Amino acid sequence: MDSRGAGELFQAQSHLYKLIFSFISTMSLKTAINLGIPDIIHSHGQPITLPKLVLALQIDPAKSGFLYRLMRFLVHSGLFLKTKVDKGGKEEEEEAYDLSPCSRLLVNGNAPNLTCFAQSVFHPALSDPWKLLGDWFYREEQNPFHCTYGIGFWEYGSQDPEYGKLYNEAMVSDSGMMNLVIRDCRSVFEGMQSMVDVGGGKGAVARIISEEFPNMKCTVLDLPHVIEDLQDTENLKFVAGDMFHHIPPADSILLKLVLHAYSDEDCVRILEKSREAISGKGKEGKVMIIDIVINEKEDKPELTDPKLYFDLLMMVAVTGREREEREWKKLFLEAGFSGYKITPIFGLRSLLEVYP
Ligand SMILES: C[S@@+](CC[C@H](N)C(=O)[O-])C[C@H]1O[C@@H](n2cnc3c(N)ncnc32)[C@H](O)[C@@H]1O
Repeated sequence: MDSRGAGELFQAQSHLYKLIFSFISTMSLKTAINLGIPDIIHSHGQPITLPKLVLALQIDPAKSGFLYRLMRFLVHSGLFLKTKVDKGGKEEEEEAYDLSPCSRLLVNGNAPNLTCFAQSVFHPALSDPWKLLGDWFYREEQNPFHCTYGIGFWEYGSQDPEYGKLYNEAMVSDSGMMNLVIRDCRSVFEGMQSMVDVGGGKGAVARIISEEFPNMKCTVLDLPHVIEDLQDTENLKFVAGDMFHHIPPADSILLKLVLHAYSDEDCVRILEKSREAISGKGKEGKVMIIDIVINEKEDKPELTDPKLYFDLLMMVAVTGREREEREWKKLFLEAGFSGYKITPIFGLRSLLEVYP
């Protein structure tokens, strides 16, 4: 074999080892969250040195070297930043750890905070089904989640209240990000008298919209166990129901991260019910979808990676998928809609406005 061939082989080995060991990224992140390192750095008020981090974590100083190696990896992976702080006097500067934009999203009390989202993904309820992914290809159940628990994901949420609560809080934390852009897309909601957030969970998004547009009547439709303890406000109402059977009439329907959890057939059924719900508004009504649009050609790998992770998660836990624009279009036409517009304003997710 010539040296170029060997070079390619070693490159392939590095790539393979990166894939083999990528669970280490997840486990290190999980460890940082469980130890509360983002909160410690945040409450320190400035970058924290290793000895001070050891002290704050109340661990044996003999373990400093191990903590240093964990932090080195987490700096490398972009969770934390490494910087220098003054040691005081004439002494040299000392290395210290700071929050990166990524770990700022894990500080409790900060908004938005995605800690719950991470914990709901790491939880055995959602991580155990991955062990049966290979077996599932030879089995009859609709997904590995079913193979593991014998029931579907939404039913599981009602039977395991501890996980159900964590999952709903995870979705609230994900929706907290909406606050950042809702003012930028006022025109999307302007002129609407009413909106139903279908599968709206604990109402995080509907609450943001109802506060921003006090004249709009907002309704959250979700399963009974999800909304049972929630209080209506002046212009926000919680309704228990099944989106496959009936969606209350309104000027607009919002479906945030709902359709990606369902098969094409189920999506068409939900979209048809949505179209019925806005029919009173004639051509003026619309359905607003906030979901992933896969665009491997144009997106950078940093964006495509998490989109494809979500796609596999939808395969393992529920019956859904992430879709390319042509797949979305097919669903809209099948459900009887005539046009749509895609605006990629939510990072990983886009706003898809669909017209009757
Ligand atoms: C992925 S979550 C999205 C929650 C929320 N839209 C958000 O983005 O924060 C899907 C939601 O659909 C709800 N759901 C599942 N099946 C439903 C049904 N048949 N009718 C109404 N809601 C349902 C779930 O309880 C859950 O709150």
